Amino acid sequence: MKIAMIGTGYVGLVSGVCFAEFGFQVTCVDKNPAIIERLQAGEVTIFEPGLDELLVRNARDGRLVFTTDLATTVSEADVIFIAVGTPSRRGDGEADLQYIHAAADEIAAAMKPDAVVVIKSTVVVGTNADVRERIARARPGVPFSMVSNPEFLREGSAVEDFMRPDRVVVGVHDERGTAAMKRVYRPLYLRETPMIVTTLENAEIIKYAANAFLAMKVTFINEVADLCEKVGGNVQDVARAIGMDNRIGSKFLHAGPGFGGSCFPKDTRAYAATGRKMNAPQTLIEQVVTVNELRKRSMAERVIEAAQKTGAKSVAVLGIAFKPNTDDIRESPALDIIPALQKAGLAVRAHDPEARSVAEPVLPGVIWCKSAYEATDGAGIAVLLTEWNAYRALDLKRVASLMSGNILFDLRNVYSAQDLEGTGLDYRSVGRPLVGKGD
Ligand code: UDX
Repeated sequence: MKIAMIGTGYVGLVSGVCFAEFGFQVTCVDKNPAIIERLQAGEVTIFEPGLDELLVRNARDGRLVFTTDLATTVSEADVIFIAVGTPSRRGDGEADLQYIHAAADEIAAAMKPDAVVVIKSTVVVGTNADVRERIARARPGVPFSMVSNPEFLREGSAVEDFMRPDRVVVGVHDERGTAAMKRVYRPLYLRETPMIVTTLENAEIIKYAANAFLAMKVTFINEVADLCEKVGGNVQDVARAIGMDNRIGSKFLHAGPGFGGSCFPKDTRAYAATGRKMNAPQTLIEQVVTVNELRKRSMAERVIEAAQKTGAKSVAVLGIAFKPNTDDIRESPALDIIPALQKAGLAVRAHDPEARSVAEPVLPGVIWCKSAYEATDGAGIAVLLTEWNAYRALDLKRVASLMSGNILFDLRNVYSAQDLEGTGLDYRSVGRPLVGKGD
């Protein structure tokens, strides 16, 4: 069984490496020769825990190859995965399918009869059927199967999520597609991982509905946090208690500064756009998009207001990546909050364990620091924005002694009242009563 993986981004590279780990012969294709050269040299091009060791081992064993030559790769492949980007289109938020269509056209030209073409990228409902027709028009009379196989990988735990998914979802239109998916996911099958075999359209909707629901769940708890702040409640206590109802579940109930990343923002906008286009408006998700954008700005307003009250001139921002264990900064709250602070005349000192190199070019004027302590040194205000482990056990007395002011915004609720005792810090978190000196 030969697998071609078209696209070596977060989804394509993780999927290609993991399929090689399953024992298949995998060839990963990318148009960017610089990326392919780095991968051929055994260098992972994304920060994903555990990926580098798998990549090097499978490449060394000859199961994993990288190339820019799509046509040759596809001509020899039994299963061809499309894992190219589907960015938000400017304006209406719809997914931009140009890269999907370009890949489909090249695949159509090169594929052998009876190939199985699988779209793993997140695509709006109806795309798989459209691509199936597009390929059939390009290669009349040549039998092939179309499959929709969306991924549910979280950045920072993508290898784990691939190897131990809650379920595998495959949308098919024929038995060949089903059989091919059972073969490529056989190692998971043997571990009794459920495989949902459904239609192409259902598989596409499942992906969007899952992400939209998770984004809504996060946004729900973020708004509960706002209420808690007004009435003296504690959002962590509320989240823990409601999460004990197994119909709700405890995950994705951590209040924060708003969601970011390459998926939730893009997928909620695309899903809402599909609802509008198909005259089935997804009004809750429309609201999730709006509330989330406003939340990131309101977090910046809290810091600016504190600076105006105290005369603080500089702010230390700890964490730029949209979540821990990734170098991805796409739509991270930091990208809204830092420019807003700078616009209000505040100097920003920043630290992030992994994301500095990708963030520096897009955050001009930021003073980059080598540690959280260096960042807080002399700062009037400190803001914990991403819950990296590096920030979970800071010596808060040392932080207080380094700072010129004493306000700590913990926008991920990492610390508790006990941690703050004796530090003299004016601690402000999300959805919890103020501890320490307070206003
Ligand atoms: C998400 C989905 O989880 C994954 O299934 C899908 O395949 C891709 O999109 P990802 O974007 O990598 O994965 O990160 P995730 O861990 O879901 O977090 C998304 C955003 O929500 C982050 O900004 C995170 O900080 C935020 N979040 C998540 C919260 O604010 N609170 C939570 O409780 C959980």
